[in-house]
Order: sequence, then structure tokens, then C-alpha cells
Amino acid sequence: MIRAAVLEDAAVIARIHVASWRETYREIIPEAYLDQLSAENREAGWRKSLTEGPVFVALDQTNEVIGFANGGPSRGSKGTEGELYALYLLKTHQGQGTGKRLFEHVLEDLRQQGFSSCLVHVLADNPSRFFYERFGGRLVFEQRIERGGKQLMEYTYRIML
Ligand SMILES: CC(C)(COP(=O)(O)OP(=O)(O)OC[C@H]1O[C@@H](n2cnc3c(N)ncnc32)[C@H](O)[C@@H]1OP(=O)(O)O)[C@@H](O)C(=O)NCCC(=O)NCCS
Repeated sequence: MIRAAVLEDAAVIARIHVASWRETYREIIPEAYLDQLSAENREAGWRKSLTEGPVFVALDQTNEVIGFANGGPSRGSKGTEGELYALYLLKTHQGQGTGKRLFEHVLEDLRQQGFSSCLVHVLADNPSRFFYERFGGRLVFEQRIERGGKQLMEYTYRIML
């Protein structure tokens, strides 16, 4: 099930964010960078995000939060496009259509806000980028970024809404 997150979800979202980063980027981003991530430090950021726009959480059969997603105006293109800010699902719950449902909630919200496209930034080494290609994402930009002292390639996809 997908529902809109409330302020009280900030702690669990922060926990899943850090856990999913570690699962997703273990082979991509230096371990020292992943090890220093802290759910406690991220909680305040999620509290702020929850006051700024909708965040969607996915629940398992026992109503535990297993993933989340949010979006809003694109931070790089002066608000003319929408952007997916985050989409993370615990590995044990991937491949069952939940990521697709979370993403569709964000896309529908962006549509309702009047955006006609959605940008997504994803590391080139992350196989999840093919998920966005599956949604019709077109590669529009590539840039080098640095994480934990390692140079990485980041792709930007545009999905028409
Ligand atoms: C990316 C992610 C959200 C996808 O969620 P998911 O629940 O595993 O994917 P779904 O089961 O909803 O898949 C929906 C469709 O996308 C396809 N798909 C999912 N992941 C894919 C991948 N890595 N490569 C190619 N296709 C993929 C599925 O085959 C499915 O296709 P279908 O509708 O034709 O059957 C999830 O794998 C995840 O959280 N990954 C780790 C975190 C991450 O990298 N997030 C993105 C950071 S930018």
C-alpha cells in the first residue's frame, strides 16, 4: 500500500534512506562515505522536506514502511520542470511493482502541480537507471560528480508527463 507520509514518518524514512543507500551504492560509492551516513542526522532534513511537499511511503502487509519517494520543482531548471528527488525501496521488497507505484504517485502529483516533465538524476553505475528508461526516460544530460573522493558519472533523464 502507498500512503502520503506524515511528520511522524521522518525517522523511519531517514532510516530507510541510509539503509537503501548502503544496499544500493556499496559497490559504487566508497565505503567510508556510506559508513558515515547517519539516520539521526538525516531525520531533521526529512522533517523539513515533509513540510515542503508530499512524500509517499510504501507499506508492507504489516504496515511497516519499506520505501519512499518524493518530488517537486526541479532544483536546476528554475521551476519549469518537475524533478524526482528520491525513490528508495529496501532490497528485500524490490521487483514486486512497489517502486513503480511509488513513482507513479510522484508523477501524478507533479502533473497536478502543472509540470509537463520530470527530471531524474541517477548514477550511471546504478542499474536502477534502467527502471527510468522503462518509464520512457530520455537521457538529456551527463555530468561528473564526486562522492567520497571518487569521481562518478551522473545521468539526467527526462520523463514526459
Ligand atoms: C529503482 C526501484 C525504485 C525500482 O523499484 P522496484 O519495485 O524494484 O521495481 P518494480 O517492480 O516496480 O518494476 C517496475 C518495472 O520496472 C522494471 N525494472 C525495475 N527495476 C529495473 C532495473 N533495474 N532495470 C530494468 N528494469 C527494471 C521492472 O522489470 C518492471 O517492468 P514491467 O512493468 O515491465 O514488469 C528499486 O529497485 C530501488 O529502490 N532501487 C534502489 C534504490 C535506487 O537506486 N533508487 C534510485 C535512485 S535515483
